[in-house]
Amino acid sequence: MTALRVLITHEQIAAKVAEIGGRITADFAGESVVLIGVLKGATIFLADLARQIKLDATFDFIAVSSYGNAKQHSGEVRLVKDVDRSMAGRNVILVEDILDTGLTLTYIRNLLLAHQPKCLKIAALLDKVSRHAGDISADYVGFVIPDEFVVGYGLDFAEGYRNLPDVCVLDSERA
Ligand code: IMP
Ligand code: MG
Repeated sequence: MTALRVLITHEQIAAKVAEIGGRITADFAGESVVLIGVLKGATIFLADLARQIKLDATFDFIAVSSYGNAKQHSGEVRLVKDVDRSMAGRNVILVEDILDTGLTLTYIRNLLLAHQPKCLKIAALLDKVSRHAGDISADYVGFVIPDEFVVGYGLDFAEGYRNLPDVCVLDSERA
């Protein structure tokens, strides 16, 4: 059996997303930005964040495979979908649902740095700081969370639960 426990409510998320949007708006005042969402988990965060950024903004998406249907990282990241356009000379904000070991974002960051963007920042809604494996951190972090498996607001377990409005801990229990 599995049980869901609310960790972060949609009201808390909305307030935090507005705050991050305000910071990005101030940090890039007078410039344009490209928001690159990491499919599929970042789509809901990107949709809400984009509307809190009062700048010229365009979207792009990248897809990688790293987890499969398991809760554990496979240790390997594979590019499934690249960005549609070159990021050369652009202000890029990489939008991700969660920073766990950081392997995924390290891979994507290196891929995008090869485009020679003007600037590359990372926005992560959630950050499991205690799990970071290497030298990676997000520039805009919504919430630092403990090492628990979470779902909702875009985050999935076996592709399910993405549409929950709150971020919830998925507890596995034996019946
Ligand atoms: P990392 O490469 O270990 O940082 O893992 C990042 C990816 O793992 C995220 O984009 C998520 O797709 C997935 N992930 C990590 N932790 C969780 C979690 O608690 N719930 C759901 N997905 C997670
Ligand atoms: Mg993801």
